[in-house]
Amino acid sequence: MALKKLVAGNWKMHGLSADLDEIREIATASRDYPAVDVALCVPAILIERASRAVPGFAIGGQDIHHAEKGAHTGCTSALMLLDAGASLSIVGHSERREAQRESDAEVKAKAQSALAVGLNVILCVGESLEVREAGGAVATVGAQLNGSLPDSLNAEAELAIAYEPIWAIGTGKIPTVAEIGEMHASIRSRLVDRYGAYGSNVRILYGGSVKASNAAEIFAIADVDGALVGGASLKAADFVPIIAAAAAVEG
Ligand code: 13P
Repeated sequence: MALKKLVAGNWKMHGLSADLDEIREIATASRDYPAVDVALCVPAILIERASRAVPGFAIGGQDIHHAEKGAHTGCTSALMLLDAGASLSIVGHSERREAQRESDAEVKAKAQSALAVGLNVILCVGESLEVREAGGAVATVGAQLNGSLPDSLNAEAELAIAYEPIWAIGTGKIPTVAEIGEMHASIRSRLVDRYGAYGSNVRILYGGSVKASNAAEIFAIADVDGALVGGASLKAADFVPIIAAAAAVEG
């Protein structure tokens, strides 16, 4: 049976008080699509204001430190995000894996730390263009999953995986339907190997240049259980049609 789709926006380093109205508009519009789960991952400093602005709507963070607390200047713990009103966080986004040199082991520790406090997790994986062209995409993503999947899952918080080919992020390029299908099937089989039957319930999102014009085609692919959307999540006018496309596939 198909899983309920999750359409999550990643606002990256965008979002000021003035944008709370956009968040309200997205949250209000998403109520028209109860067959789809919708979330917005905003900058940490906006989480509290955003979650107060849209009670009951899922607001998330984009990263956490793996430690519970301590001498980590400038960092934010999973419990701090939860305390500010977040219900989820992205971990392991390629922009952090690259710019902050985050390792698979660190990403795993972050995911475990979030799940332990009851924060849902979107764990990102994805290959570079070089790797894709050399035919190593599935193996590379497999290795990332081996290194970064949490040891165990719990009933209190949900793990989702986002497959985001680095070369498709913000570029307008996307893999073919066959390439997305092959990757998601391979991620699914790794999840089942790791978590048994529960692995069938872990949602696998696609991310990278998702827009209203390509969303329906992407959502129709087997084992695509939603999307992680960057640029097109910043404005309700761009994001809501993507939610509508997920709802339409849902039937
Ligand atoms: P774009 O949708 O802007 O390509 O970004 C994708 C992404 O990185 C979401 O995390």
